Amino acid sequence: MSGDGPVPVRVDVEATDGAARAGIAHTGRGSFPVPAFMPVGTRGSVRALGADDLDRLAPPVVLANTYHLMLRPGAEVVRDLGGLRGFTGWDGLSLTDSGGFQVFSLEPDLDEDGVSFRSTYDGDLHRLTPEGAAAVQSDLGADMQMVLDICPALPAPERTVREATERTARWAARGRAAFLDGAEARAERGLAQSQLGIVQGGVDPALRADSARRTVEVGFDGYAVGGLSVGETREQMLPALAAAVEHLPADRPRYLMGVGDPASIVEAVALGIDMFDCVLPSRLARHGTILTDEGRLNLRNARHTRDPGPLDPACPCPVCARWSRGYLRHLLLVGELTASRLLTLHNVAWLLRLVDRTAEAVRDRRLDAWRTDVLAVWG
Ligand code: GUN
Ligand code: ZN
Repeated sequence: MSGDGPVPVRVDVEATDGAARAGIAHTGRGSFPVPAFMPVGTRGSVRALGADDLDRLAPPVVLANTYHLMLRPGAEVVRDLGGLRGFTGWDGLSLTDSGGFQVFSLEPDLDEDGVSFRSTYDGDLHRLTPEGAAAVQSDLGADMQMVLDICPALPAPERTVREATERTARWAARGRAAFLDGAEARAERGLAQSQLGIVQGGVDPALRADSARRTVEVGFDGYAVGGLSVGETREQMLPALAAAVEHLPADRPRYLMGVGDPASIVEAVALGIDMFDCVLPSRLARHGTILTDEGRLNLRNARHTRDPGPLDPACPCPVCARWSRGYLRHLLLVGELTASRLLTLHNVAWLLRLVDRTAEAVRDRRLDAWRTDVLAVWG
């Protein structure tokens, strides 16, 4: 039966400009345009926003984190309340990260079989294995899940990166097998979930190429590049990224994990990346840092006190259509909760639009000029 097999995420490439692509990615439950930016809803909510706000922003995909949801409220609770979609009320597409990345910031106990860590909530001991991460993410029921990987912080000794990359490859095979074993159970719940593999390899292009080849050999429904923007410079990141992308199949999505600053986005699209996620727009918003076409703006600055203009005069978002910098600055300074919501709405809308404009530039074959413009402000 077709419902029980793997669910490849196919990318129809509709336009290219050099290595850059624009097109449509098809999941088991719906499609989204690429290049795509995915806002981060760590605990089942993009901080400060409701699903009704997301409806207005219409992000292509929203990301959630296995690590947080397996601890609170627990993956089985999410499953029993209808999976992420029923639980959160967001009908759009979703993706869960596997938990490894969050766990590794806690200095966990790592061995060949998996990783043990203490909950940041209550100190209880938990464990993730490649098999367990696949099962937990099946319970969460996003449209796409990520394989469990190991992401060393950079700079790291060459040997550390190599060993992590090799273990990641062994975990990839285990994670994929476990995911395929769960196909029937998912089909019974009406889930057509895909699983994406993750390339590691630090900043060494040869190790990146090797990791990409091995990940493709395992055979995932789509591919991600992890382990970047974790302490290295952009000059180190881009050659490593290019070396990985070269070995990824053209008809599957290529997702650069945890990267979402404007300069890296245009550079990575130019190398052939399709998907991004980052907490940047929502986190900056809560601190009063606003993304605009002119660069970052600190809304706390006194020069905005009597400013009747919008956050960004070029922005078509509902916040810019209605409220002044002066009013939004006031809400922020007095700590009104709605400040977080309105500023997050703008920042996420702005970054979604930046990626849309990047896609347009690919379709019009003028990415080089657009990239130069973006780097002039954000590089
Ligand atoms: N998010 C950002 N980087 C990474 C990574 O290397 N692995 C995973 N699983 N998630 C990430
Ligand atoms: Zn706006």
